Amino acid sequence: MCGIFGYIGTSKRAGSMILEGLKMLEYRGYDSWGVAIKKDDGSLYIEKHIGKIGTASLPSFPAHIGIGHTRWATHGGVTNENAHPHTDCTKKIAIVHNGIVENFEDLKSDLKKKGHTFKSETDSEVIAHLIEELNKSESDLVKVMQKLRSHITGLNAVIAFFPEDESFYIIKNGSPIVAGKGEKEYFIASDASAIIPHTKQVYFLEDNEMIELSKDGIRLFNKKAIVQKVAFTTLEYTAKSAEKGTFAHFMLKEISEQPTILRNIIDSQKTEIKKAADKIKNAYGTYLIGCGTASYACLAGTYLFSKIALRHINFAIGSEFSYLHDFLKENSLVFALSQSGETIDIISSVKKAKEKKAQLLSLTNSQGSSLYRMSDHNLLLHAGPEKAVASTKAYTAKISFLYLIAHQLAGTFEKGRFNLLKAVDEISQIIQNKTSIKSLAAKMKDHKSIFILGRGVSYAAALESALKIKEVSYIHAEGFAAGELKHGVIALIEKGTPVILFNPEDETYEDTLSAAHEVRARGAHVIGVSSKNDKVYDTFIEVANCGNATIIPNVVIAQLLGYFLALEKGLDPDKPRNLAKSVTVK
Ligand code: AGP
Repeated sequence: MCGIFGYIGTSKRAGSMILEGLKMLEYRGYDSWGVAIKKDDGSLYIEKHIGKIGTASLPSFPAHIGIGHTRWATHGGVTNENAHPHTDCTKKIAIVHNGIVENFEDLKSDLKKKGHTFKSETDSEVIAHLIEELNKSESDLVKVMQKLRSHITGLNAVIAFFPEDESFYIIKNGSPIVAGKGEKEYFIASDASAIIPHTKQVYFLEDNEMIELSKDGIRLFNKKAIVQKVAFTTLEYTAKSAEKGTFAHFMLKEISEQPTILRNIIDSQKTEIKKAADKIKNAYGTYLIGCGTASYACLAGTYLFSKIALRHINFAIGSEFSYLHDFLKENSLVFALSQSGETIDIISSVKKAKEKKAQLLSLTNSQGSSLYRMSDHNLLLHAGPEKAVASTKAYTAKISFLYLIAHQLAGTFEKGRFNLLKAVDEISQIIQNKTSIKSLAAKMKDHKSIFILGRGVSYAAALESALKIKEVSYIHAEGFAAGELKHGVIALIEKGTPVILFNPEDETYEDTLSAAHEVRARGAHVIGVSSKNDKVYDTFIEVANCGNATIIPNVVIAQLLGYFLALEKGLDPDKPRNLAKSVTVK
């Protein structure tokens, strides 16, 4: 889940370009950062720091080649020594790594026996020393990197930098990596958002491919180390769309972009929605899979398909699907949802599904991502880069696609379109008048627990809402099916405990209202989110009834509540502790 970046070219500003690249990748991990840059005077400059980059800058020496890394710690604590880049004993090789070298302990003890000295506790440093060791008996660096690949196990992406030769060797197995081609310069990064400020010409490496970059240009090798043509593709989004603009945080920017994004889906994606509906219609069972926020979108999908299209669609958490996919058949359809398209639990699950020859349909926000390239059929969210770790616009965009596909299956697309437009107007209202949610956050910030209840599709909304609040405010928020309250959860309710109830005017209304009374009786502070007020609510947040699409404004309220709770607690809503935007390690 780290971010790795490399630059080679004619510019003398390699240092600042690498630092800017790392800032764009920092949402992948922000425990520490570091660079290794060959100065034009020939010396290798290494700088490493704990924590976020923030406003740090590098000394402005002329340089035209270097690498950088921003870390999400897996092996070894958050220390300067464990920060990347790591070098070999001779400092002739510097590496940055994203992934886990699963067999690092065995490799490390072998290398120690051969006299290598290690400076860190990381799995990654083994790579630098192993290259050094292999290079002793093999001078062809392509062969050395091939051997390296066969020695290390696990999912990895590595940039190996040889300052003397001024060359990079990049290998990939599982973890994402992209090459970018500019005017007499090349960029390497964990994802395209760090390259787009420089060029839209990118190449997404496939597993077991290798790239060599040097003064002579670029060479791509397939897994048999045979040179291939590099088929660069052109990215569709702009660098500007990946910037914060005037917003204080990416999270608020991305929440505010939702009305435009959902309107765009309604107006421009009918053809794609129809194709997806046809795939579901012709499949022998459809299985929605996703992780985290994507899993809650999948759960909501099962309710929407049942209620709207009278169709049973299965759902599994991405990291669990590997243990319950044995039933898949050739004409089964696995419908994978992932904003990044790189979540390893999804990638390994769909690999298993493909082994079963199941059809793969994906809904992702990342053109060219691993999931995008593995799928038989792709739906793109067109939500623009999502930089805040807490997913907001990608969630409502996913719900909008699932909602319209269900209506397409039911032959009621226009009714769906009407209700979804109503929901879009409602979220515009909520975003414009967010002060009431801001003041609610001020009242709730000191609570240790918050509970969110709902029935039916609102239960799925409650789970996603709790995740948003947990992720950015670190308050222990829990989402529950309101019907489960009396089966145990109610024991957690004390005087003043905040309980949010999603209570749209649908078949769940009366039963959810009973739950409101039950928690009120135990002293809870009851927050009712509904189109109809009731005296049982201590706080009422009015949301117009948009039919089954009401889940969307309901969750936007929780997104804003999470955002303001984070601010009230002086936390960074964009980079919550211990998290990263794209989970690429198991
Ligand atoms: C959501 O806010 C979190 N960042 C996380 O749960 C995320 O949804 C999950 O890691 C899945 O990511 P994906 O959609 O990129 O696969």
